[in-house]
Amino acid sequence: MRMSALTLDLLKEKLTVWKGCDLSKTANAVLGEGNPHATVMFIGEAPGQKEDELKRPFVGAAGQFLNELLASINLKREDVYISNVVKFRPPGNRDPEPIEKEQCMPWLMLEIALVQPKVIATLGRHSLGHFFPTMTITNAHGKPFKITDSITLFPIYHPAAALHNGNLRSSLLADFRALGEFLKTVK
Ligand code: URA
Repeated sequence: MRMSALTLDLLKEKLTVWKGCDLSKTANAVLGEGNPHATVMFIGEAPGQKEDELKRPFVGAAGQFLNELLASINLKREDVYISNVVKFRPPGNRDPEPIEKEQCMPWLMLEIALVQPKVIATLGRHSLGHFFPTMTITNAHGKPFKITDSITLFPIYHPAAALHNGNLRSSLLADFRALGEFLKTVK
């Protein structure tokens, strides 16, 4: 199929019947969602229980906090695109295995190719490690890194991390403030 004929809706249809990784045998497919022409794409790790149930990304407790963080910089979910590295819930919410991330990678790459975001905001270390395995989230969070002429990477802690560690909450709010300022400079 020509890339020009591919849409996010079609991608979702295809992912729903895809059985190319073991996780797809036990979980529902969860593609990203949001503005198909978003300037900023947020990329988390993998769906959790609520996301698996509703077949939508970031709709559980972490998603609730993500909505608040977006609101703190005057953004709504509909303004941005929200996705994950892994498209299926790992059993018991364990960390995704490297092979599972690799197997799901083409779906994320196709989403990026279709949406063409100017800023990729990775949420958490799995997502950052997917793009830059040598970067650590402790050093990189809250700062822009130019990947290509048209794409900037902006690493942020995972919202779920702040639900377990109260100190990260202010760090996340500060990272979102920095992201909001950075977005003002993006044309
Ligand atoms: N955590 C993630 O990384 N992604 C989701 O969709 C939900 C929680």
